[in-house]
Amino acid sequence: MELVDIKKVGVIGGGTMGFGIAINFALGGYPTIIRDLSDPLLQQTMRNVKSALNLFVEEELITRSEADETISRITTTTDLAEVAAQSDFITEAIVERLRDKQILFKTLDQLCPQHTIIVSNTSGFVMSAIGADVKRQDKIGLTHYFAPPHIVPGVEVAKGPGTSDETYNIIYDLMKKVEKVPIRVLKELPGYLLNRIQGAMGREATRLWAEGVATAEEIELGIQSTFGFRMPHEGPFLHYDLAGIWKWPADIRTRRRSGPESLDEAAEKINERMAEGKPWFVDPNQFDEAVEKRDREYIRRLKELYRSDKK
Ligand SMILES: NC(=O)c1ccc[n+]([C@@H]2O[C@H](COP(=O)([O-])OP(=O)(O)OC[C@H]3O[C@@H](n4cnc5c(N)ncnc54)[C@H](O)[C@@H]3O)[C@@H](O)[C@H]2O)c1
Repeated sequence: MELVDIKKVGVIGGGTMGFGIAINFALGGYPTIIRDLSDPLLQQTMRNVKSALNLFVEEELITRSEADETISRITTTTDLAEVAAQSDFITEAIVERLRDKQILFKTLDQLCPQHTIIVSNTSGFVMSAIGADVKRQDKIGLTHYFAPPHIVPGVEVAKGPGTSDETYNIIYDLMKKVEKVPIRVLKELPGYLLNRIQGAMGREATRLWAEGVATAEEIELGIQSTFGFRMPHEGPFLHYDLAGIWKWPADIRTRRRSGPESLDEAAEKINERMAEGKPWFVDPNQFDEAVEKRDREYIRRLKELYRSDKK
């Protein structure tokens, strides 16, 4: 089985996530069939698909005819067997209830041809639990999108305990083919990777708000106007270097204000490199270029901000 063998895709659940996931595949050229539980739900799904694509046209991301072609690639059904029969790759995006997902995976396993790959968009359950009753352990996995999934580029891609390398590579390559940004998650854990990081920030923000350090509104504004502003360019690791933390005195650098003890070990590894007087993430020989690239990007975004303010 290779990526080229995927000709048609299915999406189970046409809700908040499902309609956008379907748009990605259809925009990428794949005939896409969506299954939900009733015709009225599917009619709403198609209304959402159309209004999302209309916005793309308005914003000049795609042309009217590209939008029409995309819509024509999407079909709907309430019949699970129809999706199973028609799809080489199926994404599950139903309600976040473990038992429902387990039943769905087991049923799809029985209905689908042998080659079909089935992935889940779960936010919180691990694949070994969702796919516990599935025989095709080598052909299941996880693609975790971020809302709105037809706009946010990144998608976490993870294996279950039995997922084959072949399947994993197909999932990864398929995400690239439909112009998403796949992020490999190498271990199975509840919340996977990015929700854990996002959750850590949320927990700390909540704790500080609860302690009366700032109002919720000002915490939001503060995040958006400071490190949130920087984030399209730099995550925490690039930031350590570009902010010049490697030049700080060791006692300031290692100061820890919150978080579990295990943070110390991770921080120590970064500190070993910084103790050599070097950035740890950026190649020291390319440091100036990295700063210039950051500045250019920030200026471009600042201009964008001014333009949208004036509209
Ligand atoms: N909403 C988010 O921001 C977000 C982000 C990432 C991942 N997720 C995950 O995506 C999944 C879907 O979330 P959502 O927000 O789209 O939920 P939702 O409630 O908006 O949509 C779920 C849809 O699935 C349908 N459904 C339920 N059981 C079904 C079945 N057996 N067959 C077909 N359709 C069925 C429901 O009718 C509903 O339309 C969940 O696992 C959630 O954790 C959500």
